[in-house]
Amino acid sequence: MTTEMNAARAPERDVRAEMVELLQGAWRARAVHVAAELGIPDLLVDGPRTVADLAARTKTHAPTLGRLLRTLTSFGVFERLADGNTYAQSALSAVLCTNPGCAEATDALFQAAPWHWAAWGELLFTVQTGTASFDRANGSGFWELTRTNPDAQRRFNSAMSSVSEEESDAIAHAYDFSGVRELVDVAGGKGSLLRAVLRANPDIRGKLLDRPSVLSLAADLLSGQGVDDRYELVPGDFFQSVPPGADVYLIKRALHDWEADDIVRILVTIRRAMRPDSRLLVIESTLEDDAKQEWLFRDLLLLVLCGGQERAEREYRELMSRAGLRVTRSIPIGDGPLRVIEAVRE
Ligand SMILES: C[S@@+](CC[C@H](N)C(=O)[O-])C[C@H]1O[C@@H](n2cnc3c(N)ncnc32)[C@H](O)[C@@H]1O
Repeated sequence: MTTEMNAARAPERDVRAEMVELLQGAWRARAVHVAAELGIPDLLVDGPRTVADLAARTKTHAPTLGRLLRTLTSFGVFERLADGNTYAQSALSAVLCTNPGCAEATDALFQAAPWHWAAWGELLFTVQTGTASFDRANGSGFWELTRTNPDAQRRFNSAMSSVSEEESDAIAHAYDFSGVRELVDVAGGKGSLLRAVLRANPDIRGKLLDRPSVLSLAADLLSGQGVDDRYELVPGDFFQSVPPGADVYLIKRALHDWEADDIVRILVTIRRAMRPDSRLLVIESTLEDDAKQEWLFRDLLLLVLCGGQERAEREYRELMSRAGLRVTRSIPIGDGPLRVIEAVRE
């Protein structure tokens, strides 16, 4: 009787309304991308502005901008004031203000790029073929575009670097680098991990290897940080060679961009450079069975963009073993899925 009464009182689930929410999710995201792309959160930092003012500053069509903003406020991005024509910052829109250290702000601009959106538009192709849709949607591969197109390069590397900035100090402190004199950060991107490790360990010298096109961004981030005489930027290709003989090799969030056989090739290149007592630290988010939705989507994102994949720790161990590496330790970083998997040569 009680159960029946409770059941009667339980709010009825409206699955059709839920589905409308899901179907409009893509539009919701796109509206956020456009607001970020136009820099509207930054324009509201000093106080509310009218639609006409915002349209003049963003060179947009005022009535349409007003309709976009009105829609955005319906889910908490910006606040519409009582006159109906003036908009203010909200807690959510403030997250999108330009901030090189904020992963969400830089990610919004990465996702806003037409080539990023176009790649998701071809998700069906990815599911049919198991390969990246990016190339089909954009006529060139992700690595090619981020090498040749400065805007794509900036958006991608900024998004990566802001994630890196949020986790680099934690890695530098969670792993014991004592006794290490020289390390190489393979595919080190803009260099925030190298900067964190060098700052925390004044006796270490480091090399950052990445594609030549990325190194000027790394120089911008690393110079004038008090580590100037202790690092070197090395242009290179991790399928070919990496600097030999270092005590420690790092490779963070770079293996997940590749399919299994490519990962083994990269690891073999690093193994060749290692001394018998060198250590390799593979730093990745591991995707276990209880992974949160955010990481399930990030796994799909890797596939869509470049044919990559988030993997379970067990899978990384297998790939490292195929490359002649023996795992010695696995250290969690913080409460999330990030881990340092340490290995030596077999
Ligand atoms: C996802 S980002 C990670 C960057 C950095 N480790 C971090 O955690 O922010 C992958 C990096 O791999 C680099 N990369 C891609 N192909 C490469 C290659 N063939 N040789 C060296 N680096 C490469 C990219 O330029 C990029 O910086």
